[in-house]
Amino acid sequence: MKLHINFKKTLLFAVFFISGQALARDAWDWKNIDTSKVVFNISDKFLFGVANAELQVSGTDNLPDSNWKPWEEKPGTIDDNQKSGVACDFWNRYKSDITLIKGLGCNAFRLSIDWSAIEPRKGLVDVRAVQHYHDVIDSMLEKGITPMVTLHHFVHPQWFEELGAFEKEENILYFVKFCAFVFEKFGSKIHLWCPINEPCPYVLQGYITGAFPPGQMVSFTKAGVVLKNLLIAHTLVYRTLKAMPHGKEAQIGFIHQYLNFEGYNPWDKPIADVFRHVMNTAVLEFIKTGRYIFSVPYVPFTSKILYQDKNFKNSMDFIGLNYYSEVIIRNFQPGCYDHEVMTDMPYASYPEGFYAAIKDVSQFGKPIYITENGIGDARDDRRELYIKRYLYAMKKAMVDFNADIRGYFYWTLMDNIEWEHGTNQKFGLYQTDFVTQQRTLREGAKCIKQFFKPLTA
Ligand code: BGC
Repeated sequence: MKLHINFKKTLLFAVFFISGQALARDAWDWKNIDTSKVVFNISDKFLFGVANAELQVSGTDNLPDSNWKPWEEKPGTIDDNQKSGVACDFWNRYKSDITLIKGLGCNAFRLSIDWSAIEPRKGLVDVRAVQHYHDVIDSMLEKGITPMVTLHHFVHPQWFEELGAFEKEENILYFVKFCAFVFEKFGSKIHLWCPINEPCPYVLQGYITGAFPPGQMVSFTKAGVVLKNLLIAHTLVYRTLKAMPHGKEAQIGFIHQYLNFEGYNPWDKPIADVFRHVMNTAVLEFIKTGRYIFSVPYVPFTSKILYQDKNFKNSMDFIGLNYYSEVIIRNFQPGCYDHEVMTDMPYASYPEGFYAAIKDVSQFGKPIYITENGIGDARDDRRELYIKRYLYAMKKAMVDFNADIRGYFYWTLMDNIEWEHGTNQKFGLYQTDFVTQQRTLREGAKCIKQFFKPLTA
């Protein structure tokens, strides 16, 4: 058979395709959607909480031995060369902050126990820090607030950083020891555990964009190795804790930030494909298939199986889904579609993506906790809509396909240190005045209470 190619037509088609066509993404007809009827019954079977991380709320003045301390002292690492200082001074104000959490109607709180506070020098435990966390957890329990604890939320002791952190497989042992120590002390009080927060963003920021310590850029190979080591660390922590007293009743989750990337124009697609793969799909595929394949799409010879563990799914009792949005690459930069509204971060509000992410992680057949969801909105003019629409999307997932969601944690209680952006990003339900430490509930945040009602009410 002879193949006739009409070059003129093909060329015209290519010009049309490349120049005009924006690639679409799912969009619901929000004008005809009523979010006011959405309610979640909270009980010990469905938690409603807020989430934070120690460094972000207590700063390096309270955590002087963390790797964030020397990092933020380097010029240019944080917006406007800010230093975190005491941040919101949660370390000393936790009691009144827990009262605020209770006042929002929450029955849960996700927080981190900071490794650098517990083990400021290698092998040396700060007993005052251990007591401090007992006090924090006890204050929560007294108020009927269930703790969910993260053991690595991007930050670790500086001594661990100097040993090469998760770049070296042999260093994993130090992290496992720390986790086992904390579990031994707190396993009777805390049943929900998140060993590692978001392996992918940690790797992206530390080894590709350079926004987090160790500040390496475009080190794709190292990023792959670190991610592999984090997956191994998760499994080892899981197995170690499960074998300890209270291990059986503990629920230990794998915390994934579901961050999808799409191209707006056909020429934006390759960048989106690279980021989607590195940030999202590689890890989801790993959970599904047991094979962590490292590759940089479009770059030949980069595809390599870095790690295999067919049993990984058995190393998690739940999946912790952190979902904020989906990033649209538009003309080589983060953007959005014309009908959409950007948040203060480089992505739009996109509840449809939340629904799709819940659907995607549901296939693992594990209970789901929404371990983070929230909006950076300094003007407070998009927060209310964001909350209403995302909670609508979550409810829809529970109704449409029976998504097994066991709890929802809003990020976050009060404005804090948003990593490289310092205090410039405003994710708080409460506005923080960093001089007076006054917290003020934002107008746009008030609606969140209406969605969560105690089961008995
Ligand atoms: C992180 C938080 C961060 C939030 C908002 C999440 O990926 O776990 O530490 O503050 O995103 O950007």
